[in-house]
Amino acid sequence: MLTKMKKLFTRNKASSNVEAPQHGNIKLEKEIDLRDLTFPSMMENLTNDGITFEKDHFEIQTGLGDVKFGRSFFIKPSGYPRTVRIGWLEGLFTGDDMDVSVHIEPLDRNSAIKKLQKKIDEFETVVHSAANRNEGAKIEDAMQKRDDAKYLQRQIKNNQNGLYYVSIQGTVFASNLNDLNAKSREIERILGGESIEIINSYGRQKEGFLSCLPLGKNHLEKTDRNLDQNALTAIFPHASSKLNHIGGFPIGRFGSEYVYYNNFDASLSNYSMGIFGVSGSGKSVLVKQIIGRGFMDGIMKNVIIDCEPEYIALTKALGGIVIPIYPSKSKTASRINPMDIFPEREIINPGEENEYTVERINLNFKVIELLEFFTVMKESLSPDSRGLTPIEIGVLSDLLEDLYTKRGITEDPESIYLNEEDIDLNGKITYRRRKIDMPTISETYERLVKLRDDGDYELKELCTIVHLFTKNKAFGLFDGQTEIISDSGVSLDDAPVVTFDISKLSPNGIERPLAQHVLMTWVWNRFIGSNPKVKKRVIIDEAWMMIKYKTMMEWLKTLSARGRKWNVSLTLVSQRYEMFDRTEAARDVVAQFATVCFLQQSDQDIQPILDTYRLSEDVGNMIRTANKGDVIMKAGKQIVSFRSEPTPEEWNYLNTNQNIEMGTGPGKKSSREAQIQFLNMAVDIKAIEGEGVA
Ligand SMILES: Nc1ncnc2c1ncn2[C@@H]1O[C@H](COP(=O)(O)OP(=O)(O)O)[C@@H](O)[C@H]1O
Ligand SMILES: [Mg+2]
Repeated sequence: MLTKMKKLFTRNKASSNVEAPQHGNIKLEKEIDLRDLTFPSMMENLTNDGITFEKDHFEIQTGLGDVKFGRSFFIKPSGYPRTVRIGWLEGLFTGDDMDVSVHIEPLDRNSAIKKLQKKIDEFETVVHSAANRNEGAKIEDAMQKRDDAKYLQRQIKNNQNGLYYVSIQGTVFASNLNDLNAKSREIERILGGESIEIINSYGRQKEGFLSCLPLGKNHLEKTDRNLDQNALTAIFPHASSKLNHIGGFPIGRFGSEYVYYNNFDASLSNYSMGIFGVSGSGKSVLVKQIIGRGFMDGIMKNVIIDCEPEYIALTKALGGIVIPIYPSKSKTASRINPMDIFPEREIINPGEENEYTVERINLNFKVIELLEFFTVMKESLSPDSRGLTPIEIGVLSDLLEDLYTKRGITEDPESIYLNEEDIDLNGKITYRRRKIDMPTISETYERLVKLRDDGDYELKELCTIVHLFTKNKAFGLFDGQTEIISDSGVSLDDAPVVTFDISKLSPNGIERPLAQHVLMTWVWNRFIGSNPKVKKRVIIDEAWMMIKYKTMMEWLKTLSARGRKWNVSLTLVSQRYEMFDRTEAARDVVAQFATVCFLQQSDQDIQPILDTYRLSEDVGNMIRTANKGDVIMKAGKQIVSFRSEPTPEEWNYLNTNQNIEMGTGPGKKSSREAQIQFLNMAVDIKAIEGEGVA
């Protein structure tokens, strides 16, 4: 019964070729050691103390006094299920103390096509002879197989598929023979559930054991069968053991496993997400993958506020719209009117039988939102960033409300539309439904000026500031009716990605953060509040630019908190985490994100991150030394690390970064930027003096 004891691997003998020093005679001179320095190789790490192979199992000496039992087996070539699903071999990969090898050998295209042709011919013959003998069931079976083979052959011809010889083998270990038998039966049972048949490598335990070592060699002959590419890819474990989210999309790879992340998982208290890392650490590449892969998880709408611009290629590749925002006197530039109002839809009893949607115009909220906007205007242009005074708030809120109600706007969603008459050449009248013209900043300004001239002197400073935001003035780009001009054929509602390109706006001073704020608010009204059901994502890259403005941060916090109700993930991307930590409003925004991703961080950012998210020093070290694309993610209470790894197809639209560094540096300011900075200063000074600028 017993086969001979064998030492499978012996230590590297190379050194023994060197002549050993002669110990017989005592030498006075120091010996020259001729041995090379050696480090354990993989083979040496695999070295064991000895193995005894039986016919149907083996005993392995794992330490001087320990023995383990092992059994090698393989999947019968005829024991594969007819069709496979993703993860069909999960049972093999999740068992404990078990090694599994999948040996794959591709067939080159021509021989695959030839071999398939041979099979097709064989099946034809079977069909033919079965037809002669009137064997109905056999005809059908052979025809099915013939058609399958033809289909596969055509796919391979078109380079859409491939054929592989595959052998799947395993070795299971236990501490005694009884346990080994029990474990073997359990594996058989689990795989049986997937219609997979396994068989003992009887009499070939040694070959089986060797094939399961990471040596890349299959010693077990006649254990392979052919699989096409689809079946093959379905072998590998796709479910992550790391994040236990239901559904989701692969966000990166950890070792050989994909980490599946569901931004809308029930375990997350909100859907907001923060992505932080130093410039060039791979934040934008990561968020672009999140956008591209989110579609497989039903995230059908993405709105991006792009400062660089670096999202244009992605937007176009995914069939979206790019809307450039910049001050222009021509009629070809797009414009967003922050005073637009849209109906808000809310789902009552979501997910329940009596679910229904209510639609209404929330005028109160709009007025609050606009008060924030006027606060931002004032904060950004007054010295010491003063907000609105109580009198200004009072006057403005009455005035703003009146601008809407005098147009007949009420809670009723229909109240923002009017029917327009069209009379054609024959005098025939048709009606067209059109949105009514919305209030504008100019209109607000005129009202304010009138009140001021009527003796409300307290409004002097506000008038001065608002004037700068009217058409053709320094920050007049948001004054007027909304106008979307885009060369893309898709509508705003249908576009899977809508990108606002604000790269032409000056990064210094108020222009860019103001645009970020106005767009965020508008986007929220236009796409989020009006469409609560669909999963959505709003991306704001280079978000640190807004930190200076407390109101903007408070606004972001409100949006992020409201996000769950509207099925939207506010996705904030930024470098310089520590800047968020410095002000309370900004700290609050990022601290409440249920998901945060950290790429490489600079030293000063690490401690605040560890403190805010209660992460260990180890995590700190990981993000300090992370390479491009290395990510630590905290999703709810779970922490995973992964590598963001774009596919070659994704790289086509990912790597278009023009790598514009933060700021422009001294001496590089364009004349336009310089002009705006100057204006900011001028307003500051004039505001102190209480004089009008214009
Ligand atoms: N996961 C990654 N794998 C390989 N290279 C990457 C990865 N992420 C980023 N890079 C490279 O680094 C560059 C900068 O990445 P980017 O995402 O633009 O950085 P950030 O937005 O953090 O400044 C990219 O253009 C790309 O070439
Ligand atoms: Mg970036």
